[in-house]
Amino acid sequence: MASLRCFFFTCLLLYISSPSLAQQSFRPKALVIPVAKDASTLPYLTTIDQRKPLEPVDLVVDLGGRFMWVDCERDYVSSTYRPARCRSAQCSLAGANGCRDCFSASRPGCNNNTCGVTPDNSVTHTATSGEVAQDVVSLQSTDGRNPGRVVSVPRFLFACAPTFLLQDLANGVAGMAGLGRTRIGLPSQFVAAFSFHRNFAVCLSSSTLATGVIFFGDGPYVFLPGIDASQSLTFTPLFINPISTASAFPMGEPSAEYFIGVNTVDPYTVLEASIFKVATEVFINEAAAMNITRVPGIAPFEVCFSSSNILSTRLGPAVPSIDLVLQNQDVFWRIFGANSMVEVSTDVLCLGFVNGGSNPRTSIVIGGHQLENTLLQFDLATSRLGFSATLLGRRTTCSNFNFTSNA
Ligand SMILES: *[C@@H]1O[C@H](CO)[C@@H](O)[C@H](O)[C@H]1NC(C)=O
Ligand SMILES: *[C@@H]1O[C@H](CO)[C@@H](O)[C@H](O)[C@H]1NC(C)=O
Ligand SMILES: *[C@@H]1O[C@H](CO)[C@@H](O)[C@H](O)[C@H]1NC(C)=O
Repeated sequence: MASLRCFFFTCLLLYISSPSLAQQSFRPKALVIPVAKDASTLPYLTTIDQRKPLEPVDLVVDLGGRFMWVDCERDYVSSTYRPARCRSAQCSLAGANGCRDCFSASRPGCNNNTCGVTPDNSVTHTATSGEVAQDVVSLQSTDGRNPGRVVSVPRFLFACAPTFLLQDLANGVAGMAGLGRTRIGLPSQFVAAFSFHRNFAVCLSSSTLATGVIFFGDGPYVFLPGIDASQSLTFTPLFINPISTASAFPMGEPSAEYFIGVNTVDPYTVLEASIFKVATEVFINEAAAMNITRVPGIAPFEVCFSSSNILSTRLGPAVPSIDLVLQNQDVFWRIFGANSMVEVSTDVLCLGFVNGGSNPRTSIVIGGHQLENTLLQFDLATSRLGFSATLLGRRTTCSNFNFTSNA
């Protein structure tokens, strides 16, 4: 992993433009958005109000995504939409070069003399080119306990995509919200607009019926009954993958993903083949010692067990815990049954790790299932990832943020 340790992205973030992007005199300390787990397609979804008049836009959360992209081809109506003119400051912030023209009727996503980037559907690994644009977005501020006043970013930068890029995303979804480590990822733009500390935190719910949360800005991050998950975090350096993991990218572009590829688009953790082999062998042996019976795998899972000998606990099925050892033996991420096992039927539980083959672009990609009910704080100023032990151990969950507004 040593080759992945370069910590240069803090420098990149210093270029962020003026805080005057925010129009209000009220200065929020943090923002909060809900994140729901989609029952049919598994990725996590959020809703952000955009455009004038404001319209709720459903987006897939992409932790490693480089920016927000939305379908501008269908139903994009807004009096505040402005394409980024080629060679403008917005284009350079977006890392876009060159000038684009569009040879059909002018509309959002189709204008002359603009710049383009490559919006990426990271679920289907499809990318295309799209106009860089800005429009207003509105979100709820928070004191860390409840949502508060609504605040706006009038000139939020994003990319327009054609409707076909939505293929295989859940019904009603209009794009993806990229939280990646770029100058126009959501975190960087909110930091710039509101002069936040360069932090954001993600807490994914394991239930399709209850929402988790993303916070932009500092904690506290409080879950009922009054548990501040920003306390008691373990920190590890954020690694940068020097090779982009996007479906299409300019040569030499580093990955916008965090850490060893913490990802919300892949539902399950993907391990490089040799790591997968070692990790699953140990797990299978420990499970056998607990009298847990192995049964044939069920795709995409190779390692499955009969649930008949597996007890249920507050931390999920009682199976061997898995420690992802991070920068040294003392810093590890302990994964209990609730995050390691997937119930594929009433009598079969499978280890929710997937064999990524012998040549994946990143050796370990931690999937959404393994992140559920864990608070992850991405501290961009110090290049650290803070992670809590499973909140189940503190008798709360990521779906216990109190969404009743106290504005
Ligand atoms: C862009 O410019 C070309 C050439 O002048 C013109 O044919 C086309 O209609 C313009 N497109 C838009 C979207 O205005
Ligand atoms: C496993 O089963 C064997 C035989 O039934 C029994 O002797 C042993 O105590 C069991 N071990 C555990 C950890 O339950
Ligand atoms: C949630 O927040 C509201 C507004 O502050 C408060 O009135 C309510 O009691 C809270 N709910 C719980 C369960 O504490």
